[in-house]
This record gives sequence, C-alpha cells and structure tokens, in this order.
Amino acid sequence: MTTRILQFGVTGQLARELLGQAKDFDVEITALSRAEADFADPHAVVRRLDDVKADLVVLAAAYTAVDLAESERDLAFKVNAETPGAIARALGPDGPALVQISTDFVFAGDKGALYVESDPTAPLNVYGASKLAGEQAILAACPRALILRTSWVVSSHGKNFVKTMLRAAGEGRALKVVDDQFGRPTAARDLARFILGQAARLAAAPAGDPAFGLHHFANVGEVTWKGFADGIFDIALGGAAPVVAAGSAADWPSPARRPARGTLDTSKLEQTFGVTLRPWREPLAEIVAELQSERSAA
Ligand SMILES: NC(=O)c1ccc[n+]([C@@H]2O[C@H](COP(=O)([O-])OP(=O)(O)OC[C@H]3O[C@@H](n4cnc5c(N)ncnc54)[C@H](OP(=O)(O)O)[C@@H]3O)[C@@H](O)[C@H]2O)c1
Repeated sequence: MTTRILQFGVTGQLARELLGQAKDFDVEITALSRAEADFADPHAVVRRLDDVKADLVVLAAAYTAVDLAESERDLAFKVNAETPGAIARALGPDGPALVQISTDFVFAGDKGALYVESDPTAPLNVYGASKLAGEQAILAACPRALILRTSWVVSSHGKNFVKTMLRAAGEGRALKVVDDQFGRPTAARDLARFILGQAARLAAAPAGDPAFGLHHFANVGEVTWKGFADGIFDIALGGAAPVVAAGSAADWPSPARRPARGTLDTSKLEQTFGVTLRPWREPLAEIVAELQSERSAA
C-alpha cells in the first residue's frame, strides 16, 4: 500500500532529496513550503495537518542558521521546538507517525568518544538548544515519533561545505580549514533514502516499536573539516587538488560555539533497522559528479 507522506519543507537539502527520490519508493508526498506553513506560527502549521490525509509526517523544515540563531533565539526556538512540539501534540498517540531531524549539536563534544543516544546532552549554542527542546517536546507528546540526529549534512543543493570548498578552490584562493573539530559527514541523499525506505514500516508500527525514539544517522568515517576538504578535492580535482593548510576553530571566531567532537555513534540505528550506512566518500563522489555535470551543462 502506498504510504502517504506529509512533508514540511520544500527547498532545503533534505527536502529536495526526499522529493527527488520519492519515485523510487511506494510513497506519495505532499510537501508544504514555508509560504504554505510557516514554522514561526505554530497554530497556522497545526491547522494544515487536517488538510492532508497522511500516514507519516516528515519535518524537513528547520531553522538552520547556527550563528544567526545566537541573535534570533526566539525565532529559532519557535521554528525548531515550539512548532514541532505543537505538531507532535496534534498528532498524539493515534495520528500519523512522525519523523524529525535533529543534530549532533545537542552534545558538548567533550566526551572523548563517539556519542550514543543515551549520552547526556549539553548544547553549546542556541541552535543546538532549540533542536534539543524540539526533541523533548516531540518525545513527550508523540509515542510514534522517530528522531534522527545527524551531522554535517551535504548535497548538491543549497549552501553547504562541499559547494563552499569547490567554489573557493575554483577562485584559486589559498585554503586553510579547521582541523580541530571532528564529525561524520552525512549526505542528504542517504538520509532521505533511509526515511523513504522506512516509511511503510514507520506508518504501520505501533507505539513502543524500537523504530521510534532517538536514533543517530550519519555516513561512516570520522574526519575533521580539513580531512573532509581533502576528500572533496581528491574526488573532484584528483592530481590538481590544492594544498589545504590546517587551521584551528579559534582562528575563525564566530557567534556560536561548536562542539569539538560531537561525532555520532550510529550502531543503534544500524541494528534496529538492519541497514548498512555508506562511507562518506561514496555519496560525496555522487554529489561531486552531479555538481560537475550541472556545471558542464550550464
Ligand atoms: N545542514 C546540516 O549540516 C545539519 C546538521 C545536523 C542536523 N541538521 C538538521 O537536518 C534537517 C535538514 O537540514 P537541511 O540541511 O536540509 O536544512 P536547510 O537546507 O537549511 O533547509 C531548511 C528548510 O527549512 C525551511 N524553513 C526555514 N525556516 C522555516 C520556517 N520558518 N517555516 C517553514 N520552513 C522553514 C527552509 O525553507 P526556505 O527555503 O523557505 O528558507 C528549508 O526548506 C534540519 O532539521 C536540520 O536542523 C542539519
């Protein structure tokens, strides 16, 4: 049976991958843009839930401007916590299942090992705190919610690290990249594929099913931003890859503090769902190929 998905968000990295890959799955997506459902207005968004018959609701809309959130705290909390919480309360135990995406920024990054789902949270910035408040509001209200914490999301769309690095290399700039923050890059395409692949199971699963609750999702392999940049240039430019100098996060003071090592352990998700996550270089090669073919077609 076709799984009917109500998706919030149209233009974001994950939103676009969900829409682009829907044809490969037995799903039918109705996606609402910010103009149709602005998460700054929880009541308006909740009203939209009655307009669409859905088996699964996927929140691909979020306030993701990490530095700006430091000066827009109220808006970040409204979009990332209040509205997701209001949606979860409206769905309750008997409505469609819910998928929310959260972040490694709920952690302080000082554990000295990979983070598992049950580790204590201690966000260093407003964005992380708003996403954590969203997790808590959803889990308190909706027993059929899956929260996927992810990290370092990249794709061929929108703004992200892969595109920033390739643009910088194209401009011939000397490159210095942070080499003291660690994480696991994650392709929006892999995250979208996972959600779509699990849609039927999530739509049918009862409260208490191990699929619900907190899970970590990231591609395999821990790197620093510099290690990631080296990988990007290696794949995109091969022998012509620029030399990247190692920098410290302290060299680029920013409004929001970031975890030094918020790297996620994904074993719970791999065991619960029986999936194998790909090393980050594999989807990265696909993203680079997509960007290169877009450039040569332009
Ligand atoms: N990007 C990362 O590195 C990263 C890391 C960890 C977790 N995450 C989480 O992963 C999820 C997907 O991230 P992403 O990279 O796909 O984000 P993204 O590319 O920044 O897209 C965010 C989406 O949210 C929409 N949006 C923003 N404000 C809104 C509002 N007030 N009302 C309705 N929609 C609004 C945007 O619409 P407009 O185009 O109209 O602005 C856009 O479609 C998010 O929950 C994010 O917190 C991301």
